[in-house]
Amino acid sequence: MASRQHLSNIIPVIEVALKDANMNIRDVYATAFTPGPGLLGSLIVGVSMAKALALSLDIPLIEVHHMHAHVLAHFAEAPRPEFPFICLTVSGGHTQIVLVKSYYDMEILGSTIDDAAGEAFDKTGKMLGLDYPAGPIIDKLAQKGVPKFKFPEPQVGPLDFSFSGLKTSILYFLQKEMAKNPHFINENLNDICSSVQNTIIHILIGKLIKASEMTGIKNIGIAGGVSANSQLRQTLTEVGKKHNWHTFIPSFAYCTDNAGMIGVAGYYKYLRGEFTDQNVSPLARMDF
Ligand code: KG4
Ligand code: ZN
Repeated sequence: MASRQHLSNIIPVIEVALKDANMNIRDVYATAFTPGPGLLGSLIVGVSMAKALALSLDIPLIEVHHMHAHVLAHFAEAPRPEFPFICLTVSGGHTQIVLVKSYYDMEILGSTIDDAAGEAFDKTGKMLGLDYPAGPIIDKLAQKGVPKFKFPEPQVGPLDFSFSGLKTSILYFLQKEMAKNPHFINENLNDICSSVQNTIIHILIGKLIKASEMTGIKNIGIAGGVSANSQLRQTLTEVGKKHNWHTFIPSFAYCTDNAGMIGVAGYYKYLRGEFTDQNVSPLARMDF
């Protein structure tokens, strides 16, 4: 379904982008794309389109790592972080603490050993009967709830994450409560969402505090789909004030997957002449 949507949308999206930028396709002097990591079907559409543009317009083709692009989304608009900074990159497939030394040099300090933070939102949503992706829905429902249910937080390496245990404890909790009261989910939806979200955000922020302590770095940013979460954004701002951090939170449009961040990351590669050729192919999994 996702790749069919990509197929039917990609040309109209390019047309709208050119119109908004008041540009003609002939004004485009390079084309950037991501080969992955991600859903293969959708990647095939993007990679094929970028290759076709490069061939037909005779312009450079620039390959951008999906997760680097989430980090570099911070440079789409001011305020832009100074190097080095720590970036918590939280999406549907990844949860990483990245030490960003330059546009080109990034190091993973910690990551999830199982599920990603976005997956924890999405899988919880499935248990609650919510649509996919459930992150934004849980965010909205949580605003009218209180975090009165407690879930255990995982014990893993200082900068690593684990969300599969949380998923299991939410499942057991819901099964137990539904056995006592079959309307439990309906009657407590806002509080359940608030409690789950609160647990996830507490875990994420706790690791950021640890990363800052371990590295001495006080420039702290968040990126990726889950960085659109209102509680994460608010808590980062509050915690940042307490710890004298410079915090960086991208606009909503640059949090969830977007072409702008691919363009920004492509621009920095363009400056160094880092181009790829027509042999490039999409990859569902890729090294960082
Ligand atoms: O970065 P992204 O758009 O795609 C990937 O690269 O995976 O992230 C998508 C993820 C989904 O899991 C979605 O539920 C989550 O981001 N998400 C949110 C919010 N908006 C999107 N999670 C929590 N709160 C949100 N407001
Ligand atoms: Zn993404």
